[in-house]
Amino acid sequence: MLSNVKAKILACIVFTFVLMGISCATALAADSASDVTSASTVTDLAQERLDRFAASVLELKTQSFGYPGNQNVQLTDFYRWLIDSGLDTAIVNNAGDPFNNTDPSLNALDFEREVIEFFAPMYGFDLNDLWGIVTFSGTDGNDHGIYFGAKYLEKKTGKKPVMYVSDAAHYSNMRLADLQNLDLVLIPSDVHGRMIPEELEKALVTDRPALMVYAMGTTFKGGIDDQDALNAVLAKHPDIEVYRHVDAALFGGFLPYTKYRDAVNRNVHPFDSIAISGHKFFGMDEPAGLFLTTMEVKENQNPFNVTYLNGSMPMINCSRSAITPLKFWWIIHHVGIEGFAEQANGMLARAGWLKGELDRLGWPAWIEPMSNTVYFMRPSDEIAEKYTLAPDYDDSLGGELSHIVVMQHVTEDRLQEFLDDLEKEILADAA
Ligand SMILES: Cc1ncc(COP(=O)(O)O)c(C=O)c1O
Repeated sequence: MLSNVKAKILACIVFTFVLMGISCATALAADSASDVTSASTVTDLAQERLDRFAASVLELKTQSFGYPGNQNVQLTDFYRWLIDSGLDTAIVNNAGDPFNNTDPSLNALDFEREVIEFFAPMYGFDLNDLWGIVTFSGTDGNDHGIYFGAKYLEKKTGKKPVMYVSDAAHYSNMRLADLQNLDLVLIPSDVHGRMIPEELEKALVTDRPALMVYAMGTTFKGGIDDQDALNAVLAKHPDIEVYRHVDAALFGGFLPYTKYRDAVNRNVHPFDSIAISGHKFFGMDEPAGLFLTTMEVKENQNPFNVTYLNGSMPMINCSRSAITPLKFWWIIHHVGIEGFAEQANGMLARAGWLKGELDRLGWPAWIEPMSNTVYFMRPSDEIAEKYTLAPDYDDSLGGELSHIVVMQHVTEDRLQEFLDDLEKEILADAA
């Protein structure tokens, strides 16, 4: 009898444990199912967000008139190659000097050097006296130009230079002077956005070297500093040691393929270094740039030898992109000089046409020589927003201004749409 009761109790306990086990297992299974669901929901949401972002970029890119990026990016085959080759599974790093590549294994320094050598003659550099890098941006190129210039002058004279730049130049130059703790003199510019030579003359500090930053296409008006006139001022002071850096972020990209090529040729207008953006004219899909200088300038930098990189590393960044030079190399081989020339001259022709059409509408508009940037009286907020027009202000031109930077994607059809919108507004205002 007792053993019968024990057996029943035991059976009860076993049954309870089995039930608990089943309910536990069911609960665990349910939990993990909900984990899977929530994980996939998170992934789906993330994916949806990425897709929405991509769609909005693609929708807006052709209407982007106010900024100097080339939206005709053609790197699809490059990315196809990158994936097909398997390179998308590796980290390749251009830490090192493209002109002293002692270990061409996990870097693309040889391609980087070829990119610099391809562009060097366009700016009048001699391949036997050339140094340069593919940079992260125009600003990065200016950073190198200002840094190299300051150190070069210090080495030559034992004195810290004064940096001169016009007040219409890109703000990166002022920011970099600040960052590099340089004495900066901002020289007033004229109504065209060019440094005024007489103002430079008044401001020159005659007992210190001069680090000149020349603007080759100011950001808003596309003004180009008159290098000959500014050099004439400097020539009156032969005791001042001068270094010239050219900030040619946008114009340096296209001018070499036009009849204005001499403007960026250092054999015609002497300069020591030049910075150009890669994503403005050349069609890179992310910020990038070129910095070119002479071997003589490079060899007059603070050495800071790096044993494991087998030499002096004058560039500011250690790790640098290997993919960007590969993209540049790709573009050079797929577009080539003829393609660049066609694009550059097309941009200038459309900019001239746009200025003519604005004149025809009686809408105040201006364009500087050699420029693809037309600036004009600011239209309504609605039009400015539709065409992503950046604002500026100049009292001497009547106040509020906007500009259109006629890049490759700013076609005549697109411009005509803008002109039609503007004309409608002019007619409505007149009615
Ligand atoms: C004249 C000028 N310099 C420098 C820059 C800065 O170049 P990035 O945007 O490539 O750094 C710009 C950008 O618009 C520019 O217009």
